[in-house]
Amino acid sequence: MEASAIREILKVASSPGVISLAGGLPAAESFPLAIMQDLMARVVEKHGAKALQYDASEGFGPLREALVPHLAARGVAVDPSGLVVFSGSQGVLDAIGKVLISPGDVVAVEAPTYLGALQAFNPYEPRYAEIATDDHGLLPDSLDAVLTREPVKFVYLVPTFQNPTGRTLPLARRLAVAEILRRHGTLLVEDDPYSDLRYTGERVPPIQSFAPENVAYMSTLSKTFAPGLRVGFCVAPAPLLRWLVVARQGVDLHTSTLGQALAAEYLVGGHLERQLPKILALYRPRREAILAALSRHLPAGFRWTQPEGGMFVWVEGPAGLDAVRVNERALAAGVAFVPGRYFFVDEEQGAATLRLNFTAADPETLDQAVEVIAAALIAELAAGGK
Ligand SMILES: Cc1ncc(COP(=O)(O)O)c(C=O)c1O
Repeated sequence: MEASAIREILKVASSPGVISLAGGLPAAESFPLAIMQDLMARVVEKHGAKALQYDASEGFGPLREALVPHLAARGVAVDPSGLVVFSGSQGVLDAIGKVLISPGDVVAVEAPTYLGALQAFNPYEPRYAEIATDDHGLLPDSLDAVLTREPVKFVYLVPTFQNPTGRTLPLARRLAVAEILRRHGTLLVEDDPYSDLRYTGERVPPIQSFAPENVAYMSTLSKTFAPGLRVGFCVAPAPLLRWLVVARQGVDLHTSTLGQALAAEYLVGGHLERQLPKILALYRPRREAILAALSRHLPAGFRWTQPEGGMFVWVEGPAGLDAVRVNERALAAGVAFVPGRYFFVDEEQGAATLRLNFTAADPETLDQAVEVIAAALIAELAAGGK
């Protein structure tokens, strides 16, 4: 295991006086604080001591029941026995690594990919095969070629509002990926924390809905309820799901019963349906603000994604730019972001890239922050890396 450079960046980014576009945090204003006392009272009334007791590793029964219609509305057909609750989707990623990866096994990933997945898998010592991407996410032909060339244990993708790029794989490519998975008999780990955070455009079904036998699908309530509760969940073919439960027993036995009971009440009481429009109304202007600020402040030679949802915009600068040095310059002026290199297996590929979060700051602050980052970029380009 390696200490992560990004942890250090996030520590500095959370210092007082720093505007942070570095984290992937929901805005504090997005949390349903006003209903928490009621939710808690309902949990105590309905479940009493059961909500404070040890519980099944598979998850709290009422939450598993409540997740069935939640998932069905998002295109994932499952009954309670086909899903397991984990301590965040991060808990699923760790269990996947533990169960599936032996040293030297090949895991196929997008470049760039979610850093937290690499951190979860790395202790099990995989080798990574990279799948080529363009502005719309992974290229199905590249996936086909990787699966033909390499003995891939599983493919890991974030197809919707990807962390870090914000890109979404279009429907036609999802169908192509499903066909390729079936043809090669390969497992996909589909990580889907962001699809509820859509500000514009049409919802796209998860790849799981086109190839349920080939997909371990995971999502979370971290972005639409509260990450502090650590409630994530996984839908997977039965033999794999069984081993994921065994793997997690040695880690945490089960996810906090109280957190799961609160999550169940949040879903059953219709609170998510009422809260989600408020969260979208909070984030939508922030997305527009950061895209407008990038157009206003960034010099020629830069391009960036136009995410329809999620939390991140991805900026690509000219070859030779070192975003780590840009981050140091921006930090000296009170603004933090994450250099994109950490999201690549081969970090050099991402040297000139930046990941900017747009959900944690208000529109005016985002404009100021982008102005500071633009000044840092211009200064770094002028210095030529010196
Ligand atoms: C792609 C992706 N997967 C998983 C996670 C982990 O989420 P959690 O463990 O809070 O469910 C995140 C959090 O930012 C993420 O961006």
